[in-house]
Amino acid sequence: MRSPNSLRWSVLLLVGLACLGAAGATGACAAELARPAGAAYETGRRTRDGIGKFYFGREISQVMGHQGAGWLERPEREEEERTDLLLKELKLKAGDTVADVGAGSGYFSWRMARVVGARGTVYGVEIQQEFLDLLMANMKRRGVGEIVKPVLGTVQDPQLPAASCDLILLVDVYHELDYPWEMTRAMARALKPGGRLVLVEYRGEDPAVPIKPLHKMTEAQVKKEIAGGGHPLTFVENIATLPRQHVLVFRKT
Ligand SMILES: C[S@@+](CC[C@H](N)C(=O)[O-])C[C@H]1O[C@@H](n2cnc3c(N)ncnc32)[C@H](O)[C@@H]1O
Repeated sequence: MRSPNSLRWSVLLLVGLACLGAAGATGACAAELARPAGAAYETGRRTRDGIGKFYFGREISQVMGHQGAGWLERPEREEEERTDLLLKELKLKAGDTVADVGAGSGYFSWRMARVVGARGTVYGVEIQQEFLDLLMANMKRRGVGEIVKPVLGTVQDPQLPAASCDLILLVDVYHELDYPWEMTRAMARALKPGGRLVLVEYRGEDPAVPIKPLHKMTEAQVKKEIAGGGHPLTFVENIATLPRQHVLVFRKT
């Protein structure tokens, strides 16, 4: 029979090995333990566009269904949101590896693919398979099917390789993440050192922006959530050139 001591050491060894395995696959482990007490979820009264789950006092919005693809691809979008300016502000280079998290129909995926070119990669991450199917059909039609890689993520994990991305872009996505803390932790892990996380959100401070309140965010709220989450991400700037949206840039430290 085994002594209690040898049993304890066996358990510790197993936990250690599991941790090493996880770190190899995802670059994680120590970070898993570091959730600040303030970064907890709370449950409250659900409002019309929300899910009744709150993070740093903000109600998380419902996820937009794949039936909304037509709205994402509306012809007037470029003029309304100046998506052309956003693309320039990202300052991507040929050969970059980027992720379009919550890519939807791939509005930004193919545009970024044209910039990073054949030596680069764009991960198109979605939780809705219907969107991924549509995205890949669109990418093939645009001639970038070899550059854009579809990734089926989960609500907690975009399933991106560790330390792989120069930039991770979320356009109109962060406010509807069911698990913002887990997703941000996983995205930070997927960035290369010095890589950028860019959150584009309709301006919550501006009542003239014609979007439902839960689908907008203020700069202060986004900063509070990223800093309060204890993530290894430093706020760099809010690029203020778009007519309706914040472009909040964080850098992996
Ligand atoms: C309003 S759409 C924006 C689509 C695209 N970024 C665009 O601007 O055209 C938000 C998308 O985020 C996706 N989404 C929500 N939570 C997600 C998560 N945890 N991981 C990946 N995608 C997510 C939804 O499925 C939806 O397609």
